[in-house]
Amino acid sequence: MKRKNVWLGIASAAFLVAGSAQGAGDPVAGKSKFYACKGCHGIPGYTNVYPTYHVPKVGGQYEPYVISALQAYKNGSRKHASMEGNAGALSDQDMADIAAYLAQFESKEQEGPVTGDVTKGKEVAAKCASCHGEDGNAPAPNFPRLAGQYESYLVKAIQDYQSGKRNNPIMQSMVQGLSEEDVKNVSAYYASQTGLSVVED
Ligand code: HEC
Ligand code: HEC
Repeated sequence: MKRKNVWLGIASAAFLVAGSAQGAGDPVAGKSKFYACKGCHGIPGYTNVYPTYHVPKVGGQYEPYVISALQAYKNGSRKHASMEGNAGALSDQDMADIAAYLAQFESKEQEGPVTGDVTKGKEVAAKCASCHGEDGNAPAPNFPRLAGQYESYLVKAIQDYQSGKRNNPIMQSMVQGLSEEDVKNVSAYYASQTGLSVVED
């Protein structure tokens, strides 16, 4: 059963790459291109200095989303000083290679404690399931996986949409009505699900 899922994953990844205009990503090249990124994305529990939140997990994140996030930092539509610098140095091929490498990581069970209320968070997450999947493992790769992501990063991302610091019309309207408690709880729920990992190898 597990093997079958892996093969389905490979088949759909191959389909996506074939369907895009870009050169196919090479995961082996991507691994070496990701070397410089591991100083932040490869250390469990590593935090951004100010404001303080965990550097997002990107192991197992979907290819098209990784590419679109890197493009957004590069063109300045998503703001973060060190990521703008890191993504600014990447070509389209570099981004495709890195995304192909990151997509290879298998789902991981989460161990860390969370501060929000997971049961209440699951109720909030019902509103988000059409795009992000019931447990945060999005059914379509254009939407980011949230499952297994750090709680503190999810809170920060949602607050950035609420304040408009992070500009995405769909997500801004989705989280506009969430209270501070809702944001904490839904983040705790996604953070507890089997999903993303730190890129350690
Ligand atoms: C100095 C630490 C640092 C380095 C080095 C770094 N990153 Fe990041 N990265 C971050 C932080 C912090 C964020 C979250 C920023 C934000 O809130 O938008 C992030 C965000 C991202 C995201 C978006 C994640 C998401 O869920 O939206 C991707 C993809 C990413 N980085 C890839 C890379 C790649 C590829 C490299 C190397 C070329 C790299 N990063 C180097 C700290 C770093
Ligand atoms: C109609 C589809 C849709 C729905 C419904 C939706 N989202 Fe999203 N979500 C997206 C898209 C598209 C992105 C990527 C946007 C971007 O690039 O900034 C995103 C991004 C995010 C991110 C940032 C992920 C990262 O790695 O940085 C979080 C957190 C998030 N959504 C939480 C939620 C929550 C919580 C809800 C429900 C209240 C929700 N979303 C409902 C489409 C959706």
